[in-house]
Amino acid sequence: MQYKKLQNHQLAMEFDEVSNLSSKKVLILFRNSIPEIPSTTYGTFAIYKYPAKFIPQVIAYVLKNYAKPGMKIFDPFAGYGTTGLVARIYGYDYELWDLNPIIEVIHKTTTLKKSLKTQDLIELLEEIKKSQKEFIPNWSNLNYWFPKEFLLLLSKAWGFAHSLPEDTKYFFLIPLLNTTRYFSWSDETVHKLYKSKYSRKKVENLLEGNWETRFYRMLRDEVFKLFNKICEYEKLDPKSVNFKIKSGVDTLETRLDEAVNILITSPPYLQAQEYIRSTKLELFWLGYTEDYIKNLSKKEIPYRNVNEIEIYSKKYHEFREKIKESHLRTLFERYFKAILGAFSTLGEKVENYMCIFVGPAKIRATPIPIDDIVIEHLQKFGWKHEVTYIDKILSRVMFESNINPATGMKDSRIKTEHLVILKK
Ligand SMILES: C[S@@+](CC[C@H](N)C(=O)[O-])C[C@H]1O[C@@H](n2cnc3c(N)ncnc32)[C@H](O)[C@@H]1O
Repeated sequence: MQYKKLQNHQLAMEFDEVSNLSSKKVLILFRNSIPEIPSTTYGTFAIYKYPAKFIPQVIAYVLKNYAKPGMKIFDPFAGYGTTGLVARIYGYDYELWDLNPIIEVIHKTTTLKKSLKTQDLIELLEEIKKSQKEFIPNWSNLNYWFPKEFLLLLSKAWGFAHSLPEDTKYFFLIPLLNTTRYFSWSDETVHKLYKSKYSRKKVENLLEGNWETRFYRMLRDEVFKLFNKICEYEKLDPKSVNFKIKSGVDTLETRLDEAVNILITSPPYLQAQEYIRSTKLELFWLGYTEDYIKNLSKKEIPYRNVNEIEIYSKKYHEFREKIKESHLRTLFERYFKAILGAFSTLGEKVENYMCIFVGPAKIRATPIPIDDIVIEHLQKFGWKHEVTYIDKILSRVMFESNINPATGMKDSRIKTEHLVILKK
């Protein structure tokens, strides 16, 4: 065992569960490894709860240890877009892709400059109250998720937000999304769109009080919270770099136009999927249509058909044999064909490193060594395994449900995440 980055004995004890560490496995706590980024929620790194978001320190660690000036960074499953936000701090060009179009809004918001003054925001917040413009989402389930009492208020606020010019709009969209989610029947404390005992009570309480005043107060607080977070991010001195965002794209069907240097990503989880479903309330209010959202859901990994590919990993075949139930075997096969197919194809245009961050998931009670399968397969395409960093999850927000949607059984929580570094 090599405890190169181990910080103290207690940590060693905690990591005891990580057995069979080969010489290429190194324990680390990413969140403590980057002094210039003081917390995982610093700046605009956590202004919206996107499921399974990277902590910024993971990307910062890779950039500080593997990138050289002038390199271009690429994340093909970029989610919240953390990779881009961190790339700016260290001055690297970047490209981000994600199936979920919300990346566009999150990225424009998280990279906002302090172009408005607090007085401008106060005036706009007053104007919203008087807005006569209305916007109602094109969503057949709207009345299931929103009490009818709130709809006029919401539609006026959104009518106003949608009418704002680009340079002002992004100061409002995410604050309004967070407020809207609170004023719905859904439980905003979990990622999944879900009505809980808590959320029913929340709405009842709102309806009993002066909910209109509460709505505008919450919106104002969210707008100023964002504004402060923008100021905080600016303290990290983000550089002006070139970047490209492809939102609403299927990574399995998309090719890189030009070479990149470092691919860094966390692909979808083996069991915890449904990024589109968990953000659909937001997508509807942002103006996406029901058909468009349904079509996106159909492309999510691993619940979709994928092209057949040969898999060059002994462990893949060993573990596949152990899965007896056919639907779980199909899930397993689709998952690996999707992510390994994407990495081997995209890897042709990656010039230096591929850094892949995965959680060691389970199927039934069997832990699946996703990291080792990725390494074995990509070695066949000329990639050399440099090291795997093993990080313990402390506060990374996962899908809160402990029920594995594939099996309907209670799952044990993922305890560690592995960052695989492959070199060309
Ligand atoms: C683990 S999350 C990435 C989170 C990201 N690292 C962050 O910091 O937010 C995986 C992402 O893969 C995306 N995804 C799932 N299927 C996809 C597909 N077929 N094409 C592109 N992206 C996909 C999901 O929308 C999700 O954002």
